[in-house]
Amino acid sequence: MAYAIGLDIGSYAVKVSLLKERGGRFTLVNFAVSDIGEEPIDTLDPAQKNAMIQATVKKLVIESNLKTKDVAISLAGDQIIVRYIKLAYMTKEELKGVIRFEAEQYIPFSIDQVVLDFHILGEITEEGQKKIEVLLVAIKEEVVNQYIQLLQGAGLNIALIDIDGMALHNALEVNYEKKEGETVAIINIGAKYSNLNIVEDGVTRFSRDIPIGGINLTNDISKEFNLGFAEAEKLKREQGGIIIESENVILTRIPSKEDKRVRIYSSISTTLGKLVMEIRRAFDFYESSSKKRSISKVFVCGGTSKLQNIDKFISERLKIPVEPLNPFNKIEIADVAAFDEKIKQYGPFLPVSIGLAVRKIK
Ligand SMILES: Nc1ncnc2c1ncn2[C@@H]1O[C@H](COP(=O)(O)OP(=O)(O)OP(=O)(O)O)[C@@H](O)[C@H]1O
Ligand SMILES: [Mg+2]
Repeated sequence: MAYAIGLDIGSYAVKVSLLKERGGRFTLVNFAVSDIGEEPIDTLDPAQKNAMIQATVKKLVIESNLKTKDVAISLAGDQIIVRYIKLAYMTKEELKGVIRFEAEQYIPFSIDQVVLDFHILGEITEEGQKKIEVLLVAIKEEVVNQYIQLLQGAGLNIALIDIDGMALHNALEVNYEKKEGETVAIINIGAKYSNLNIVEDGVTRFSRDIPIGGINLTNDISKEFNLGFAEAEKLKREQGGIIIESENVILTRIPSKEDKRVRIYSSISTTLGKLVMEIRRAFDFYESSSKKRSISKVFVCGGTSKLQNIDKFISERLKIPVEPLNPFNKIEIADVAAFDEKIKQYGPFLPVSIGLAVRKIK
């Protein structure tokens, strides 16, 4: 059985992870994380953007001494089209045969221009009829071709393409026991997106990429302090956070020496509030649909989950316990001492790449 390098190319940072497996247990081989540049890459022209991603990927593969050439990548946001559909019961094999035909009505452009994938989420009975719930994923062929080219240029071969939401699901599944009757959420707060998954009894029932992330926060700070993006980014990482007093999230009555922190918090609080509102909305939608239960816990990850006290902020606003998604909860680390510091610093960035690294490719 072979495993690929889990390669998570985000809008701000690239993450690589490689695992090995023995008897169903995974061990970490190595991982590495690097920002692509100082400015968000979306502001660059496509050729420049691809060159920078390529250089970053190359650097990371060399730095982490990964000999594997196969990579598993994932896409998100406006690069993908995700639909939840219900179909009359059929097996996975049968669905493979008819998926293009079934998918046609859900895809807003020609079916000949997309690469399709699907996950069967579960079986249900509706009005006496057995049905399957299917997560349908479509990616434009031209997007896929761009990535093939980009990675070929880095000497790598794409073994599989997934979506961030499913990779996060897999990262949770490999690291935590599923509890029957429990619904949890994962929020991977990145740079451009916050991927949100709602996982019921170990099945992802809802997955959405909310278009809010760390880039918005940096832009807020940049406006407030009249700084360029790179400087605002630095300020965010060094002094950004949610100001708390005792266990309550508050903004006022802060000692004056912390004025800068208050200004930062106040500049990012509208964006943070919007993010939490989108999460709340998704939770309400989930909880109101059919017989579903309430969400008992939220796992957070992503680079922006490093923002000081963001876990407390989300927990207080949603009234739900929040904990970091530990990408190595059940993955063995042979040399703990060697990885300890690195994991503390970069662990929050890794769940997507770990979720890709656990997928069998051959
Ligand atoms: N210490 C920190 N405090 C606050 N934010 C941070 C910190 N370190 C990194 N970030 C933010 O994390 C973001 C990058 O996180 P991540 O790598 O998860 O996103 P991405 O995968 O590149 O983006 P996306 O998935 O949205 O395309 C950046 O916006 C960066 O500013
Ligand atoms: Mg990401």
